[in-house]
Amino acid sequence: MGKPRILSGIQTTGDLHLGNYLGAIRNWVEIHRDYDSFFFMADLHAITVPHDRTQLAANTYEVAAMYLACGIELEHATIFVQSHVPAHAELAWLFNCITPLNWLEDMVQFKEKAIKQSENVSAGLLTYPVLQASDILLYEPDKVPVGEDQKQHLELTRDIAARLNYLFGKEDQPVLKLPEPMIRAAGARVMSLTDGTRKMSKSDPSDLSRINLLDPPDLIQHKIKRCKTDPIRGLVFDDSERPECNNLLNLYMILSNQTKVAVAAECQDMGWGNFKPLLTEATIATLQPIQEKYHAIMADEGYIQSVLKDGREKAGAIANQTLAKVKAALGYSVPL
Ligand code: TRP
Repeated sequence: MGKPRILSGIQTTGDLHLGNYLGAIRNWVEIHRDYDSFFFMADLHAITVPHDRTQLAANTYEVAAMYLACGIELEHATIFVQSHVPAHAELAWLFNCITPLNWLEDMVQFKEKAIKQSENVSAGLLTYPVLQASDILLYEPDKVPVGEDQKQHLELTRDIAARLNYLFGKEDQPVLKLPEPMIRAAGARVMSLTDGTRKMSKSDPSDLSRINLLDPPDLIQHKIKRCKTDPIRGLVFDDSERPECNNLLNLYMILSNQTKVAVAAECQDMGWGNFKPLLTEATIATLQPIQEKYHAIMADEGYIQSVLKDGREKAGAIANQTLAKVKAALGYSVPL
């Protein structure tokens, strides 16, 4: 028996930030050696909102380099680009035709994004989770490590697989394996620096709302200096009236690798003027080694391309097998 398989990905829109690292990548780094791991860059998802064609390829390489810089090891993981494996788009089409429209209209992320885009909502934004289902089911992973916000998309993925099995499988022989979600424990949810009630996000127009993984130390210091706080002395966790306070303590706890109890004791009598330098220092100490490794990887021009070529071959072989199985189940002729 080989190791169980995990698969996950990040959409390649804009720069990666602390929320992506603490919420996703750091968790992958911790667990990936125990699994046959697949991590990809979701560059087909990146065009579900209007995109900049001059940035698309560069963003994809940058995210790949960042996975490696954060500590993903190629002996344990396959890193690949979604658009390099055509089976993703092809399976998504087949799934589109068995997915009831109302399942998609019910997706919270679609509704939220559609409100933000107002007139500019593409059909791709609606079928986004169908593509995500095909990303996942092509590799038949045992588990899919994602944040809480992706739970509904994973349930939809299971529903699509179950529907396909029901419609086209034999009872004792399902076509597709249903993956288990692996939802990260709360606490690693990083909120905006300018609004503690909203998630840190690439799409926030203000760069001051997030710390990007490549921000230099002086910019990190500036953003933390400028971040939203409150006028109350004494810093505490879990006060619903003080979302910024909770977020910043949480960040400090994770970045300095301390327990909640220790941080609560350390900060209970502090004011922001004493706390902010501590948070700044912990953030820089976490990001500096990642940034050094990132720049070394990016300096070697052919390296990322060779990693992605290997990834495409390994991922493509598995994906094509699953796609062939689904097409056969749907009744397609096998080409000569
Ligand atoms: N929708 C995910 C996000 O926004 C990204 C994603 C695309 C993904 N396909 C996936 C995550 C497949 C896990 C598995 O974070």
